[in-house]
Amino acid sequence: MKRITYISEATREIDADTLENISTVSQRNNQQFSITGVLIFLKGFFFQVIEGEETTLDQLYRKIAQDPRHKNITCLKTELAVEQRLFAEWSMKAINLGEAEDLILTPVKQLLQSVTESHRILEHYTQPTVSRIIQSGRNPLAEKPKLVNKIVLFSDIMGFSTFTEKLPVEQVVQLVNNYLAICTQSVAKNGGDVMKFIGDAMMAAFDEDQADAALQTALDILEQLQQLRENCSEREPCHWLYTGIGIAAGSMIEGNVGFANRIDYTLLGDAVNVAARLEALTRHLPHSLAFTNTVRMACRQAWPFVPLGQHEAKGKEKILDVFSVANSLTQKSPEITLNSQHIREALERLLSADNDAPVLP
Ligand SMILES: Cc1cc2nc3c(=O)[nH]c(=O)nc-3n(C[C@H](O)[C@H](O)[C@H](O)COP(=O)(O)O)c2cc1C
Repeated sequence: MKRITYISEATREIDADTLENISTVSQRNNQQFSITGVLIFLKGFFFQVIEGEETTLDQLYRKIAQDPRHKNITCLKTELAVEQRLFAEWSMKAINLGEAEDLILTPVKQLLQSVTESHRILEHYTQPTVSRIIQSGRNPLAEKPKLVNKIVLFSDIMGFSTFTEKLPVEQVVQLVNNYLAICTQSVAKNGGDVMKFIGDAMMAAFDEDQADAALQTALDILEQLQQLRENCSEREPCHWLYTGIGIAAGSMIEGNVGFANRIDYTLLGDAVNVAARLEALTRHLPHSLAFTNTVRMACRQAWPFVPLGQHEAKGKEKILDVFSVANSLTQKSPEITLNSQHIREALERLLSADNDAPVLP
């Protein structure tokens, strides 16, 4: 058997009738499928535990997750190979904890509310990979490091130091947020995982058979940045927002690194370093996207590959054959063909021409 514990936020006022209705329907359905559990409602939040045979439980969880009466459904815990039900007597006991007046419940309510608030905050800082491990019923802290074959993508804002030197803090943060939103959405859309943000850079990972998806992600990022630039006037710093993207593939270690309370679930290995190196190399290449021959060979789609020559991977004796995709998106515009110095100059001109802080969209 399996047990799932989740929290969610009500999307509307949940009065006694609504809760009663959810409870009645749940009891009727759950009895039919031998599902038991408890549903607690407290100040706009649902806490539910459901337990039963794995396939039927997963089906129910998917159905519940689509219910428009709640949103932001977060699985707190999944337990597999459950031998005994916790709520064998309840096909779904609904409790409106907010209305319970028993004094002894006050600390429980307080505790639940505090846990919910902290959880809502912490989940924004949690790596998606870690959340997925928790939701699949495993404890990320107990995960053993493993050797995996992955594709790693690094993307970074060109000439970022100029932005930080010249712009007020809020505008720099807004610019980075816009950039990282574009990167994150493109990775998610193409089925990859954002591993981490490193300042203004993003590191994402794809499975070894997702080379096409990794390239598509890069093109999506470049396309959206192009649109952003076109929508901004030359007076706005986002008009000068360009990125470099490096992609490499190979065997690497996936697992926890760190110490005591500061642990990172990450990827370590040669291909990770090479991807970062290629991203840095794009500053000096005529294309904003650069990837290794291994990535090229792993693609199934017929991309118009363009060789960018042989380059040294920093700190390595190995020489890499570097490629890009022949595409108007990857091809740098004349003003940034040589290096990001042009962006720096443009931004400096822009800022010295007008002392008013430029406006971001
Ligand atoms: C917080 C919450 C918990 C729910 N729990 C259950 C449940 O345990 N079992 C269930 O069948 N439906 C549950 N529902 C309702 C389902 O989302 C869905 O409306 C219902 O199963 C549809 O039943 P029907 O297919 O018989 O019309 C829940 C809804 C919400 C908002």
